[in-house]
Amino acid sequence: MGTEPAVIPRTTTELLLLTHTDRRLHLVPVHALRSVVLFAAGGDVPGRTTVACTALPSGQVVHVNRDEIRPYLLPDDAVSAVLTQFAVTGLRPAVGPMPTGDLHAPPMFGNLADPTWLSLSLGGQCDSACVFCFTEWIRHEPRLTHDQAVRALDEAASIATVEGVVFSGGEPTLRKDLPDLVRYASTKGFASIGLQTNGHRTADPRYLNGLVESGVTHVLLSLHGARQETHDGIARRRNSFALALRALATLATDDRVVTEVNFVVCAQNADETEDFLDLIRHVAPKAAVRYSLPIVEGAAHDNAESTLPSLRTFVDRVSAAVMRAADSPRVSVANAPPCISSAVGLPPTYTLSLRRSMLGVSPFVSSAILRGEVAAKLQVCVGCHFTDNCDGLQLPYLRRFPQAHRHVAEARVR
Ligand SMILES: C[S@@+](CC[C@H](N)C(=O)[O-])C[C@H]1O[C@@H](n2cnc3c(N)ncnc32)[C@H](O)[C@@H]1O
Repeated sequence: MGTEPAVIPRTTTELLLLTHTDRRLHLVPVHALRSVVLFAAGGDVPGRTTVACTALPSGQVVHVNRDEIRPYLLPDDAVSAVLTQFAVTGLRPAVGPMPTGDLHAPPMFGNLADPTWLSLSLGGQCDSACVFCFTEWIRHEPRLTHDQAVRALDEAASIATVEGVVFSGGEPTLRKDLPDLVRYASTKGFASIGLQTNGHRTADPRYLNGLVESGVTHVLLSLHGARQETHDGIARRRNSFALALRALATLATDDRVVTEVNFVVCAQNADETEDFLDLIRHVAPKAAVRYSLPIVEGAAHDNAESTLPSLRTFVDRVSAAVMRAADSPRVSVANAPPCISSAVGLPPTYTLSLRRSMLGVSPFVSSAILRGEVAAKLQVCVGCHFTDNCDGLQLPYLRRFPQAHRHVAEARVR
């Protein structure tokens, strides 16, 4: 097999279909199909031999005959070129619950039935501007009102399975009512109350202590480099590194809080993935480290060319860090398909079953802003141990990296 991806010309007579059940891409000549049925509420869904697909890039749901599309499975080495030719972005609208007519209802998504935790994004406003921030596109959207946030906490607390809440954003510490909301959450009996922060405001020990006294039990601190220039360049904010380190040093002395530091691996900081551990050991020996693969939406989507790490880079760097860490600090990965977690020697954290445990509340749902996470599987994924518990790879990754299938193959044999 050559290294050049196959080029398949786009024509108006071809459909690019993503099957819903096995999430495979097919490039199908329309003349090969006897029928293409657009899904319509109340309309007939044809018989057992049909399969539901998303037609890309329109996102329209169609039903086609399974046997008729089978010969047109897209080869792995053609995926990137075809996604580019069809201008597939991999974005889709956020899907909320059925509208209730209640304008003050919190904008919810995710698992409304038996979630185990609430992710509460208070708004997109932030005093950093990270080059890969997945919430960049809600930066100027209306934030949640105080009442919406309170109602979200009430609703989550009324679901017996919910154990914890995480306050996020944007930057949640920009909200004056954050300490009140944390206090309110602690009256609702959540076992854990988390805060995701860039550390700017929490660099002030009095402010941080106030939040902890109000009930914060867990902090996820963003720190995206081992060196000031790297982190401040990524956050696009001077002095961000110094402030975050100050917050980390305070957290290191506070036994009431479980601290984790999030390092989103990107092209700008990949070289510092291992050295980062030395910094954390030095400043906060008990803090855990999370290495995140970027979710490709918002700024990560806008800056995909300059920012996304390849899967090979992610696996090489993070597995070296895992080896260097040995038992300390504790290291995990986030947002990476389970085969990638296994390749770096860590348990999977981004399985469908784990993702299903989240109830989300976010301005994304009440705005028209698109989200990412439309994913597809490759031929190389066939037979994978995790197949029923994995969505595949985000389409913008597959578009950005024509060799993604080789990187997955390497990951699977490690
Ligand atoms: C959107 S931020 C909001 C909280 C806060 N402003 C901060 O900087 O930590 C929430 C978490 O997502 C991480 N993050 C940002 N963009 C990401 C992306 N594209 N993929 C994965 N994680 C991302 C951040 O590092 C942070 O830990």
